[in-house]
Amino acid sequence: MAPNLDHYNREITYLRVSVIDRCNLRCFYCTPVKDLKLFAHADILSYEEILKVIRVGTDIGIKKVRLTGGEPLIRRNFAHLVESVCRIPRIEDISVTTNGVLLREMALPLFEAGIRRINVSLDTLNPLKYTKITRRECFHDVWEGLQVAEEVGFSPIKVNVVAIRGLNDDELLRFANLSVLRPYHIRFIEYMPIGRDGNWTPEKYISSDEIKAELEIFGPLYKIPHSTNDGPAERYRFESAKGEIGFISPLSHHFCPSCNRLRLTADGKLRPCLFADDEVDIKTPLRNGCSHEDLKVLFREAIARKPREHHAETLEKGECLRLMSTIGG
Ligand code: GTP
Ligand code: 5AD
Ligand code: SF4
Repeated sequence: MAPNLDHYNREITYLRVSVIDRCNLRCFYCTPVKDLKLFAHADILSYEEILKVIRVGTDIGIKKVRLTGGEPLIRRNFAHLVESVCRIPRIEDISVTTNGVLLREMALPLFEAGIRRINVSLDTLNPLKYTKITRRECFHDVWEGLQVAEEVGFSPIKVNVVAIRGLNDDELLRFANLSVLRPYHIRFIEYMPIGRDGNWTPEKYISSDEIKAELEIFGPLYKIPHSTNDGPAERYRFESAKGEIGFISPLSHHFCPSCNRLRLTADGKLRPCLFADDEVDIKTPLRNGCSHEDLKVLFREAIARKPREHHAETLEKGECLRLMSTIGG
């Protein structure tokens, strides 16, 4: 059996790496304002350790890497890590998910370090609402950051919009229009019940089907077929648009049957599923000098522990306790 096949015959080729649990924003659905417990610096994997884990991953079949956080761009010398990951043979696709606050300054160094595409989280086009969601006044930094990323040559630039009823459901058409005017892939993400803050309620959830129906008032959406290395988004385009529309539907259309990923948390745990707190500790063995071969065994164990699917709709309190800011999406 290939080392990267799980029990359900899914091939695991994608590693999402959270490089830091800290963030320069405080999005209400991701990070609590009170009692935010951060990892001690000593518990966060060093760049050398992260690179070692990624190299082990490539030996069992990892070909795609995403660097996330918290907010990855706030980690010191982040471009240096990007450059080193880009040099690892057999990595075919590398990207970063960022809140974009530092993109204006960092877009060029990141491009020079070797990445060509980037995902930016932006849930509203209204600066005041942005502050309400993120508890920081940074809308214009992100907006300018997107433009700098475009000038520098990033393509595609994906914009992640978590759709929340009563919050940004009045902006769907503005986002749709943005996909026509700018070469951005606007991706609407269904709001998921993650973390222990309890902000998620069924009323706030909007399904992708509902969003799509509303967007079709704006004009017909043309389907774009999946291509290799695509993530979970279903892709569409409005006629003559510079950009695209995407729907990420973890609740209404599980993509678990085609799940191809593992996650590495900033504190060195391999997490088999976004929604399950079952994790394999790779940091302790790594720091105890365990061999490359033994680390491969830990990867295989994490792959073997991947569940068939998540049951996020019926999660009990006490499950999936990790904060989103420590997983990275
Ligand atoms: P690309 O399409 O390859 O650019 O990446 P991506 O969409 O996988 O990455 P991104 O970090 O932009 O994530 C977009 C959204 O998809 C976030 O809300 C993630 O939490 C969500 N997501 C990514 N992978 C999974 C997954 O395995 N399960 C679930 N439920 N959600 C996921
Ligand atoms: N539901 C859906 N998406 C989320 N993200 C963070 N928390 C949630 C949630 N509860 C998104 C962020 C970021 C991506 C990595 O995950 O907005 O774009
Ligand atoms: Fe930071 Fe992203 Fe979490 Fe917002 S969603 S607090 S930007 S890590």
